[in-house]
Amino acid sequence: VADVDGATCHTPSSHRRRLTKVSVIGAGNVGMAIAQTILTRGLADEIALVDALPDKLRGEMLDLQHAAAFLPRTRLVSDTDMAVTAGSDLAIVTAGARQVPGETRLNLLQRNVALFRKIVPPLAAHSPDAVLLVVSNPVDVLTYVAWKLSGFPVARVVGSGTNLDSSRFRFLLAEHLDVNAQDVSAYMVGEHGDSSVAIWSTVGVAGMPVLKSLRDSHSSFGEDALEGIRRAVVDSAYEVIGLKGYTSWAIGYSVANLAASLLRDQRRIHPVSVLASGFHGIPDDHEVFLSLPARLGRGGVLGVADMELTEEEARRLRRSAKTLWDNCQLLGL
Ligand code: NAD
Ligand code: LAC
Repeated sequence: VADVDGATCHTPSSHRRRLTKVSVIGAGNVGMAIAQTILTRGLADEIALVDALPDKLRGEMLDLQHAAAFLPRTRLVSDTDMAVTAGSDLAIVTAGARQVPGETRLNLLQRNVALFRKIVPPLAAHSPDAVLLVVSNPVDVLTYVAWKLSGFPVARVVGSGTNLDSSRFRFLLAEHLDVNAQDVSAYMVGEHGDSSVAIWSTVGVAGMPVLKSLRDSHSSFGEDALEGIRRAVVDSAYEVIGLKGYTSWAIGYSVANLAASLLRDQRRIHPVSVLASGFHGIPDDHEVFLSLPARLGRGGVLGVADMELTEEEARRLRRSAKTLWDNCQLLGL
């Protein structure tokens, strides 16, 4: 017992590891799916939860704490006051209105910008060195809003973007090809949502390009079939919202996947929402965020890949950028 008694087990301060703290703002469906997945993967030493509803917040925290015997040791704290997030390495924002069936993500803009004006300044003040990871919708415009309101360097503000859409794309292709989705590499870029762009030229299975063989084996596999699959990716969020009212599990895993790359300095490439000015013909003075493949590590966004796009893909990306930029400009930030 003496060996496991904290009072007799001293760790010299020079041997103490720096602790990793993650905050999740918004303890709704999405925030709790993210917190639960980060907890299960043992990515943080401390998780701070913030929500405007104190009873729900405490209930969610206790419910997770009661699983302590089955999980990596993680300190869980919660408060309605943003001070609980102080000293975070990663702050994930999921608070805000969500779509009702049939509503688009961009419809949420005004409500969620008003909320971000309240949330982001104190969050940034309490954790001035954090990476801000925005999940609330419309995620691309709100990532721009979080960047402006936080005053953080652009490398430390990122949106979850099309990391989720790319996973849906990989799932649908994997089903079609009867292979494991983890072996499918495929990117969706641009807006998270309706105008997302599927980059067919990069689709591969275990490093082998598949588009040509798909076209050779299915005579009907033309542009319409490709657009049908892209449309199915876009529609899948609407389908889940129509069926269960919200989406949560896939975004939980998607964000935990990003958190692992950021906190563990993995330098993996993810399609996430980053400042896209100057890429693929997007004007330099359009400060628009949308998803491009970006290298993520402890410092945030370490680089953005200048991927090769067909003229049609680049045109679609610019069209997404224009829609998003028009929305950003209306905000007067
Ligand atoms: P939800 O209604 O379940 O949760 C939102 C939470 O925000 C609520 O618990 C609410 O109390 C809280 N909140 C409201 N005001 C707050 C404040 N001032 N401070 C702290 N918390 C506050 O909604 P949800 O299903 O969890 O969705 C949350 C957001 O995530 C929505 O905008 C949704 O569209 C978005 N979303 C994004 C993605 C993505 O891929 N980027 C995926 C799914 C959902
Ligand atoms: C999604 C949310 C609704 O699951 O943006 O795609």
